[in-house]
Amino acid sequence: MTKARLQAVILAAGKGTRMKSARAKVLHPVLGVPLVDHVVRTVQSLQPDPLMLVVGHQADAVEAAFSGRGLEFVRQDPPLGTGHALLAARERYAAHPDRTLLVVNGDVPLLRRETLSALLEAHRRAAAAATLLTALLDEPEAYGRVLRDGDGVRAVVEARDASADELKVREINAGIYAFEVAPLLEVLGALRPQNAQGELYLTDVVRLLRARGASVAAVAAADPREALGVNTGAELAEAARLLRRRRNESVMAAGASLEDPDTIHIGLDVTVEPDATILPFTILEGKTAVAAGACIGPFARLVDARVGAGAQILDHCLLRECVVDAGASVGPFAHIRPESHIGPRAKVGNFVELKKTHLGEGSKAPHLSYIGDATVGPAVNIGAGTITCNYDGTAKHPTHIEAGAFIGSDTTLVAPVTVGEGAYIGAGSAITEDVPAGALALGRARQVVKEGWVEARRKAAAGAASTAHGRKA
Ligand code: UD1
Ligand code: CA
Repeated sequence: MTKARLQAVILAAGKGTRMKSARAKVLHPVLGVPLVDHVVRTVQSLQPDPLMLVVGHQADAVEAAFSGRGLEFVRQDPPLGTGHALLAARERYAAHPDRTLLVVNGDVPLLRRETLSALLEAHRRAAAAATLLTALLDEPEAYGRVLRDGDGVRAVVEARDASADELKVREINAGIYAFEVAPLLEVLGALRPQNAQGELYLTDVVRLLRARGASVAAVAAADPREALGVNTGAELAEAARLLRRRRNESVMAAGASLEDPDTIHIGLDVTVEPDATILPFTILEGKTAVAAGACIGPFARLVDARVGAGAQILDHCLLRECVVDAGASVGPFAHIRPESHIGPRAKVGNFVELKKTHLGEGSKAPHLSYIGDATVGPAVNIGAGTITCNYDGTAKHPTHIEAGAFIGSDTTLVAPVTVGEGAYIGAGSAITEDVPAGALALGRARQVVKEGWVEARRKAAAGAASTAHGRKA
């Protein structure tokens, strides 16, 4: 298909009443992107020109979600049905009467590119004015029924307007169509809202085309699940489940190993290299990238994180907008916050929080620490319970720990402060001043030992009690 032969409209103006949600249906997230984004990506892969998105309900939010993606927005305000939505874009596609017009409901996220290609191919072969994608369902429920005559289609009747006999038809309209522009333009103006919903139905175009002697073809989707239209919260969850499975299968086919993939969520823009291992109940979101040989999870959540080759993210970690270099180890139970960078072979252990911190090559913060706004050189050891006091109540301040320094357990580093190369800090220190390279710093009260203090206190207490007793008698 050459680019100039195809144009497309995606219908995304409806409110989605059956979602019972304040958010426009097409913006509900599935695999980390809006529902309609799945449709946009699939249609876009065929390079239609132009690709129009009809928006209406929460139009500003929908347009904002797709700005910079090369779409032409068409406003349908107020949305008065799928036929009305197609009418709203009429001037745009009328400008290219020679280009086949692909029309896709915005709520069919499982639709695949191959299926659209098959629809367009069938449309061309049949030389039809319109071709519908259909699906054979055991429980066709609320979908529009496809009424055939011979190879062609006589009409599509909405479930609410269908007779008992028509409701028995198992072939449903998937809401995905190819049109020739000229015959479509001839009949669109004749749509009337004479139906149960009082809307202009796009599906009535079929009857109108047939009335004018034009031919309407249909092709059934190889996998009927692709026709799943999302109208309710339960259907959204079902679509998400199927998309997650499809996504995981493609990640595994590319060579990554997923243990118990039904529990693993891998967003659409995540990359997982071959020989990476993802353990159960792990969620990879945003632009997360996992390199070969890395192992993530179980129960880890990574959002926009980059994990290097062979690195390990252990149980119950949360990482956001950060980089973990090759061979590093994080967790269990670590929280790595934005703008953190964990160097090669560095180790961040349990109950450690990092924020805007660069941890140098081979450095370690193995237990119970908060390290924020810090630059930590290579081969540094940060003892258990070390805290950077980076906030003075007004502003944030940096901490610098240079190569090879040793920070004793339970140190508080009151920023701004620098610990020089190879310096030692005694356990339990509150460090308020810079420590020169090679020095030992102790910032705590000297230990006091009072021999026999417990016994002395006991005797003193007993003496006081007998005096009091004597007074009473
Ligand atoms: C539609 C079809 C039905 C088909 C089903 C497949 C019609 C009349 N019916 O029904 O035959 O079986 O899809 O899933 O077309 N939209 C607008 N503007 C509007 C109304 C809707 O842009 O005024 C958009 C919606 O945002 C949605 C799509 O069109 O993305 C479909 O609308 P929806 O109300 O879900 O149609 P269905 O009742 O599911
Ligand atoms: Ca629908």
